[in-house]
Amino acid sequence: MKRIIVVKNGEKILIRSLKKSDIEGVWANFNEVVDEGIYLPVFKPVKSEYEKKNWYETIINRKEVCIVAEHLDIKEPYNIIGQCEISNSEWEAALHIGILGLIVKKKYRDLGIGKNLVDTAIKTSSKLNNKKKIILSCYSTNERAIYLYKKMGFKIVGVRKKQFYLDSIYYDEVLMDLWIDDYLNKEKIP
Ligand SMILES: CC(C)(COP(=O)(O)OP(=O)(O)OC[C@H]1O[C@@H](n2cnc3c(N)ncnc32)[C@H](O)[C@@H]1OP(=O)(O)O)[C@@H](O)C(=O)NCCC(=O)NCCS
Repeated sequence: MKRIIVVKNGEKILIRSLKKSDIEGVWANFNEVVDEGIYLPVFKPVKSEYEKKNWYETIINRKEVCIVAEHLDIKEPYNIIGQCEISNSEWEAALHIGILGLIVKKKYRDLGIGKNLVDTAIKTSSKLNNKKKIILSCYSTNERAIYLYKKMGFKIVGVRKKQFYLDSIYYDEVLMDLWIDDYLNKEKIP
């Protein structure tokens, strides 16, 4: 699946599947969000080339989904301005489940890129991987992410109290689910 979208500021963004040449851009985005220090339960940026390549090989070998947003006027690796990954569950009896992660570069947030990434990743997971349900989690303080996921049909199915401890503060973890059929059927309603 590949499509060009025009976002709220009028810029054209290509939404497409991950390529090997995107590795640096994707990890630069991840590391920037780690540095922001309020969204991910991760303390240190990933610098290891081995780890980055290994992540890519895992996606390819396990036929997982990673959709990226490419800015067509920016040179590699900074052309990758967002990514949505839907990975497989480790459990054999849960192969119908996809686990979603989403990042958009700070400068490009609130333009609709996150929504388009999630939409394409869900549809690709359904078509290519036969996923039935998408699950995710985020900090309860992440109002933008929770708003976006609810807007797309995700439901809060639980809260793990004080699941993360960061800079001397506890954070609750919000767990959300979406059945792909519900999502696709909702789209059919005029
Ligand atoms: C969460 C994230 C991926 C969303 O990407 P995005 O491109 O900004 O998403 P969109 O533009 O499609 O949608 C964002 C929506 O949140 C709304 N929003 C912004 N701030 C908000 C807030 N504080 N409370 C509620 N809604 C908010 C925007 O208005 C927009 O809604 P609208 O399109 O209906 O107007 C992005 O903000 C991000 O990368 N955050 C840091 C990493 C992260 O939190 N990842 C998710 C962890 S699970």
